[in-house]
Amino acid sequence: MNDRVIDAQSQPPAPSQRGAGGRSGARQPSLQPVNLLAKCELFDEQWQPRIVAEVNDYQFKIARVEGEFVWHAHEDTDEAFLVLEGELRIDLPHGSVTLGPGELYVVPRGVRHRPVAEREAKLMLVEPRGVVNTGDAGGERTAEGDRWV
Ligand code: NI
Repeated sequence: MNDRVIDAQSQPPAPSQRGAGGRSGARQPSLQPVNLLAKCELFDEQWQPRIVAEVNDYQFKIARVEGEFVWHAHEDTDEAFLVLEGELRIDLPHGSVTLGPGELYVVPRGVRHRPVAEREAKLMLVEPRGVVNTGDAGGERTAEGDRWV
């Protein structure tokens, strides 16, 4: 883990990473890149997405996942999955798609899906602010929202 990441952990998210910073015009943007895999090392809970950046009303979230998640759908939004490390299978009503590192898949709004990882995988999700991880399913695997790393 490099010094830059440790430094980033000790500070609140930079205004530039929260999207709104640019609108205020009062502060200079951060000069630090967001290293997604390094950010994944800053927490170890699985299926608990952490926000790393916002772009307008959309959030970039990272997550560590392992095992089977619950079947669910997001009635109001598409959901993008980008695998950073490991392998993720997304089960869909008509089949499944398996993603490796660097591969992206978008689940369209309203389509039921179940993410599955045989071994731990690290992901990035892109979705509008406020999306709940379990969608319409709810239940004990629902993650607390709005947690930054
Ligand atoms: Ni989902």
